[in-house]
Amino acid sequence: MKRNPARLLIVDDEFSMRDSLAAWFQEDGHDVVAAESAEQALRTLDDHRFDVALLDIKMPGIDGVELLERVRVIDPAIRVIMITAYATVETAVRCLKHGAFDYITKPVDPDELTRLVARALEDKQHSEGVTPAPPPSPEPERRVERERGVADAIIGESPAILHTLELIRQVAATDATVLIRGESGTGKELIARAVHRESPRRYFSLISVNCGALPESLLESELFGHEKGAFTGALYRRKGKLELADGGTIFLDEVATLTPKSQVDLLRVLETHELNRLGGHETIKVDFRVVCATNEDLEALVADKRFREDLYYRLNVFTIEAPPLRNRVSDIPLLAEHFLRRAAPTVGRNLTGFSPEALERLCAHTWPGNVRELANAVERAAIVAAGPRVELHDLPPLNGGGHPAAQGSLEDVERQHIQRVLDEHDGNITRSARALEVDRATLYNKIKKYELRR
Ligand SMILES: Nc1ncnc2c1ncn2[C@@H]1O[C@H](COP(=O)(O)OP(=O)(O)OP(=O)(O)O)[C@@H](O)[C@H]1O
Ligand SMILES: [Mg+2]
Repeated sequence: MKRNPARLLIVDDEFSMRDSLAAWFQEDGHDVVAAESAEQALRTLDDHRFDVALLDIKMPGIDGVELLERVRVIDPAIRVIMITAYATVETAVRCLKHGAFDYITKPVDPDELTRLVARALEDKQHSEGVTPAPPPSPEPERRVERERGVADAIIGESPAILHTLELIRQVAATDATVLIRGESGTGKELIARAVHRESPRRYFSLISVNCGALPESLLESELFGHEKGAFTGALYRRKGKLELADGGTIFLDEVATLTPKSQVDLLRVLETHELNRLGGHETIKVDFRVVCATNEDLEALVADKRFREDLYYRLNVFTIEAPPLRNRVSDIPLLAEHFLRRAAPTVGRNLTGFSPEALERLCAHTWPGNVRELANAVERAAIVAAGPRVELHDLPPLNGGGHPAAQGSLEDVERQHIQRVLDEHDGNITRSARALEVDRATLYNKIKKYELRR
């Protein structure tokens, strides 16, 4: 039950995002309309009024920035929140100058977005002279639980994953800092969520920060927050993620990518549990538990003086290794079935399973992209499968067998390989370039040349 229902417009070209946000806010009692393009949103605005609009920046056709301008002309009172990926954060900051209320970075934390929407609504009602309802009490993480319960399950029965689960259970009960290590796609984020979910802090928020996703100055404002006027474009006071994690857990993802300055600043708050917002003088005490993750060799970075030794010791208190998928082949059938069931709503039907040959091929592949690569492969297979079950020829080209589709021209092979790596890294150029061992510019040019999806 929501004391303060809003009329919400959600515009995102990505179905899963649009759908999950719409469901999330509807469940909170808001009146939600979701549009898949700016064009559709503009048509909706002809005969609907909204309090708050959530606009994805990157959309084909009219993008979020242009839509912001048009929405503000149609209804200057709408509070607009921009949804932005790494590549467009600078754009999002510019949007603040063009009347956006605030922005949120992907991956979107629904709890954070809930707070942002509540604030936008209060701001609107305040300026309209309506007494705002009292702000909602801190949203307990258990709501996220309910939403993500199934999606967050850690699937597997192999000795390696059972050991991981045991470590999660042991450390969750304590307040110790946890460092999760493992290759890309092994489930580090899932493990971080499990640690929080099983800890006494579960009724407070789990706040995630991707340390590699933002340039230094934006990351600092994201972590520490800022006061109104701290820099150009800072039109409002904004709490940082460390402050939002008060009582709960802060998840620092890709912690090895922190710049030297951010490492110093982070070390200080980890030691004192006190912070200052950018441009602020007030010292704020915060109580959070730290979970962090990396797929890099931190010891090598320390030896190279690229990662501070003192921060390394502070973070490396209790380590959980996320085992690579090739070391737990016995989990592959379980995971594959799980992802097949998960794909059912997307493909609009249930598939009964895999042919023995298909399953054998899945088990023979070495999965350099680990569980994420498997999930993507199964989802694509589910889409192309014509019969009641997934056959060998429905699978994308995988090593561990002479799949005919793997024998294309050199360019075909390159194109497919780059696309797979991009998919495995959610389109993130920095991480994909690292995995491919090329520089970012080279990868960028290949993406353009082959017109790859990001
Ligand atoms: N044991 C598991 N059971 C079910 N799903 C899993 C498991 N491990 C990983 N996944 C799924 O695989 C995908 C990748 O997992 P996750 O994002 O946690 O990996 P990661 O280690 O954080 O990767 P990266 O280093 O690239 O950030 C997610 O969709 C996640 O839900
Ligand atoms: Mg991750």
